Amino acid sequence: MEEITLKSTIKVCQPEELNDDDQQLLRVAVDSTRKSYAPYSHFCVGAAVRLENGLVLPGCNQENAAFPAGICAERSAIFAAGAQYPNQPIVALAIAARDTTGQLTQDPISPCGTCRQVIIETETRFHQPVRILLYGQRKVYVIEEGIKALMPLSFTEF
Ligand code: THU
Repeated sequence: MEEITLKSTIKVCQPEELNDDDQQLLRVAVDSTRKSYAPYSHFCVGAAVRLENGLVLPGCNQENAAFPAGICAERSAIFAAGAQYPNQPIVALAIAARDTTGQLTQDPISPCGTCRQVIIETETRFHQPVRILLYGQRKVYVIEEGIKALMPLSFTEF
């Protein structure tokens, strides 16, 4: 029987090692955790997307008493970008979170399955990978190859 090995490369660094654009995007994601509406989980997630024209848009999770009606930080940023700048490719996405004690997480958090699917749609739509930055106090993950690193064999189109 043949075997397929699926490999992903994730770089691990400290924020200071990143270029100015990446550091700025992380800062907006971290700042956006403060604007999160998370009265149910108390887990405040912030995101930021960079458009090809250089604009940076924030997002944060928005919860709801009817749980599925809420939305994650990543999708709130991506959909805001799509609504305001439908023709601008999203080139990068940063994510940060505060745990239930209000501290920024020590380790990076990673997008949920639904957000991964939405990031795939973004890459398909604009024919380019989205650079992904995942913030943690101890380390930052940089995923240069885009969402396929986190979601191999993904469903794109039929
Ligand atoms: N959440 C995000 O906003 N992004 C993620 O990547 C993971 C989870 C939100 C959803 C919910 O409001 C809270 O975090 C707890 O799951």
